[in-house]
Order: sequence, then C-alpha cells, then structure tokens
Amino acid sequence: MALRLAHFSIGTLQVVGATGGHQVFANEWEEDMTTTSSLDETARAIVADGKGILAADETVPTITKRLTARGIESTADSRRDYREMLFSTPNVASFIGGVILQDETIRQKSVTGIPLIDLLVDRGVIPGIKVDEGVHPLAGAPGEFVTEGLDGLRKRLEEYHNMGARFAKWRAVFIIRDGLPTARCVHANAHALARYAALCQEQGLVPIVEPEVLMDGVHSLERCEEVTGVVLQTVFDQLFDQKVSLEGMLLKPNMVIAGHDSGRQASVEEVAVATLRTLTRHVPPAVPGVVFLSGGQNHVLATEHLNAINQLDSPKPWTLSYSYGRALQDEALAAWQGRRENVPAGQRVFYHRALCDSAAALGRYRGDMESEEAFAQTAVPPARAGEPGFTDQTLH
Ligand code: 13P
Repeated sequence: MALRLAHFSIGTLQVVGATGGHQVFANEWEEDMTTTSSLDETARAIVADGKGILAADETVPTITKRLTARGIESTADSRRDYREMLFSTPNVASFIGGVILQDETIRQKSVTGIPLIDLLVDRGVIPGIKVDEGVHPLAGAPGEFVTEGLDGLRKRLEEYHNMGARFAKWRAVFIIRDGLPTARCVHANAHALARYAALCQEQGLVPIVEPEVLMDGVHSLERCEEVTGVVLQTVFDQLFDQKVSLEGMLLKPNMVIAGHDSGRQASVEEVAVATLRTLTRHVPPAVPGVVFLSGGQNHVLATEHLNAINQLDSPKPWTLSYSYGRALQDEALAAWQGRRENVPAGQRVFYHRALCDSAAALGRYRGDMESEEAFAQTAVPPARAGEPGFTDQTLH
C-alpha cells in the first residue's frame, strides 16, 4: 500500500504522519517551505544593504585576555559594560545586521535591567550565538585540532532560539605547516561543521559556517589559496551530504593571505584576486552571503581587503561582507579603557569603523575616510525615536 504522508510540526520537531497507522519522525526540514524561506530571509537580512556582522562572541578566557592587555579587569560586569557600549551605539543598525554573542552575554542584562539581546533586537539587529565548544586536539593528528560541541547541541540550539537568537556560529581551525592540514583534520572538521549546520536549520537558526585557515605561519599566499580551496571544497561536500540548505546559511571564511611570518606579504590587490578566485572555484552561488573573518589583520587592512574584493570586476554571486571581531573592536576597546566617561569615544570609533567596513562591503570605501578630518565629521547620529539610548545610568 502506498503511504500518504502529511507534514505537520510539533514545536520544532517535524513529524511525518503516515496513513498506514504508524508514524515516523523525520528531520526532513528542507521540505518545510515556511522554515526554509524564513532562514533564507534571515540570512539575506543580515548582509543586506552593506551590512555585516559584529563578532562579539569571544569566550570568557579570550575576552579576558583582550581586556587585561588593556589594563582592564575582566569581571562579568566589565564584560557586560563593554558589550553594552558596543550594542547601544546609536544607529549601529545602519552597518551591523547581526551580532554574534556567546553564552554569558546572551544571559546578561544592561545596568538598567534590559536584556542585552533586547538592546540589539530593539535596534533591528539580528542576534546570533556562538555554539561550538572550542578546539580540542584531534586524536592521531599531532598539532591539529577538531572543534567539539555536537553532543547536546540540538537542546542548546532550541534554548538559544527561545531566547531570541536567529543565527549561530561554529568555528573550525586549520593550521598550515609542512604536511598540515592533514586530510583527516579537514574531513573531521568539515563533517562537524555540516552536522552543526543541519541541526541549526532544523531548529530555525541560520548557521554561520566558519572554516578558518589560520594566518599564523610562514606560508605563502599561494599555499593559503591551495589549503583554503581544499577546505572549502570539503566543507561544501559535507554540507551537501548533510542536506544543508545553502540558501539558508552564511559562509565565514578567511581571506587568502600569506602567513604572518611569511617573508613576503602580498599586495591588497593580490589578496583580493586570490580570495575571489578561491571563492569562485569552491563556493556555490546559492549561498547568499560570505562574511569574512578578520583573523588578526589590522583593522584598516581588513577594510581595504574587503573593499578591493568588492571592487573586482568579476562575477560575485554572493554578497561579500564582514563578520569581524578584532578588526571592528580593537579601536573601540582602546578608546574605552574600561571607563564610563569614555563610552561616547568608544562608540564613536566603533561607529566610524563599522561605517568604513560597510562602505567596503559595497566597494565604496576610500582611504581618505580614515583621515582625521573625515573622522571628525563622523558624528554618531543621535538615537532614533524609540531606540533606547546609552544613558549615564547605563554604566555604573
Ligand atoms: P576575528 O575577526 O577577530 O578573526 O574574529 C572573528 C571570529 O568570529 C573568530 O571566530
């Protein structure tokens, strides 16, 4: 007897009911057009109109390192104050379509008691959440790592979705050395990325798929291009195997850059050409957006590279934008110094950097936007009506 199948949903778990008197549970979420189209819309909205992502998802140990390097004590309150400064920058939504939070931040409230996630939502910024559990040594592969966090991930995604997150992030890292990365490291990480991405889509979250080929090392630009190509090819093979909807995800790759300690750094133009060539060869056009990580690049160089990529006269079927951590935050952290009286200065440099990166995402950045005169003219516009401003009370 032919089975007639009826799709319906119970919470986030789709059930396929069969008329034959028994039921099977399936995660064939891709047939649920409502879910799929909302994932697509979210993915596109994050990178619409020159917007990009602020990666503010440093784990507690990582943000502690960044704060203490500036002489700022890292406490739950100081971490909250810092993130609150960034998120409440007036009109930041003109340039920032999404912010990646981490577990501590998504549960925190502002000094005046507003959940930090609401500061973003109220401004029209889409909140996201880092869900990987960091890199761990890969068994049998000395010097290489695999990102963990798949155990219990479905439940965590469900909780984050209920808290208001609409996208997630998982970062895998690949180290270039003689003979590295190995095929098994690339495969293990690509498989985990794809399993994570499928789970995200099942739970109504847009996965940001982040395979990062690290800049540390002495390798050339050509070697970075070769490794990045292999990594991306493997990742998309795995995404295909796991039935991930490419329209409902964003890719967060490294740019193709020579290693930090390489004797020869390529020009901005060379980086742009190699990066776009690699994407063209290995990233399907169905992916709506590619949001580069900054990976330790200086903030101005990260802006110049993105702009140069967008200015290239070659087909670019994806929106090419940014998901920068350090390159968006370094100046703001330096200006803030952990002091409440510096909040306007911190917001001002953050706003200016986001404006420059947004211009680069549109291929309209110019070097003179970095001048003191241009900066002096970049006043942070007052908060829009209805947008909660950063009051003197907001920090204690
Ligand atoms: P950077 O831009 O500082 O590399 O951070 C981006 C990120 O999210 C790393 O996972």
